[in-house]
Amino acid sequence: MAYAVPIAVFLHLVGVIVWVGGMTLAHFCLRPALADLSPQLRLPVAEGVFSRFFNLVGTAIILILLSGGYLFPKFGGAQAPWPVHAMVVIGIVMMLIYGHIRFATFPKLRRAVQAQKWPEGAIALGRIRRLVVVNLVLGYVTVALATLAR
Ligand code: HEM
Repeated sequence: MAYAVPIAVFLHLVGVIVWVGGMTLAHFCLRPALADLSPQLRLPVAEGVFSRFFNLVGTAIILILLSGGYLFPKFGGAQAPWPVHAMVVIGIVMMLIYGHIRFATFPKLRRAVQAQKWPEGAIALGRIRRLVVVNLVLGYVTVALATLAR
């Protein structure tokens, strides 16, 4: 099919936009906007936002993996240029970090909010914030490699 590769690149970019764009919003807009609120208000809002966002990122990751897995052999597979290999490696690291946030750190925030244990919740949210910053930087590095190093 003549349009298969452009469609796969489109779906790949939809996944990247949702993931990296969402992290940009969370870090540069949501975090400062919530910073002055008390933990009783801030932590439930953060839990509600991240619960929805992390589910969306799960779908974005499936899209990125399926489209990227389809595109990889089309762009040379093992013989692909080094930025493509770098994208795959950094992309997998980002997915592992996401998995850690989603399945190890975020449940601590959720439990703390349900039990109204605000200090524990604040610690969990701080960890999520740091890991999201790591993934945010890796995300922009990956996009830069994929586009600038062609
Ligand atoms: C881990 C699984 C991934 C695989 C197997 C993969 C594979 C690919 C392949 C084969 C291409 C086409 C090559 C090219 O256009 O030069 C591509 C394009 C692209 N990828 Fe990935 N990728 C993955 C993850 C990611 C991640 C995590 C990001 C960003 C956060 C990303 C960003 C991009 C961008 C922006 C393009 C478009 C480049 C362009 O057309 O100018 N990829 N990907």
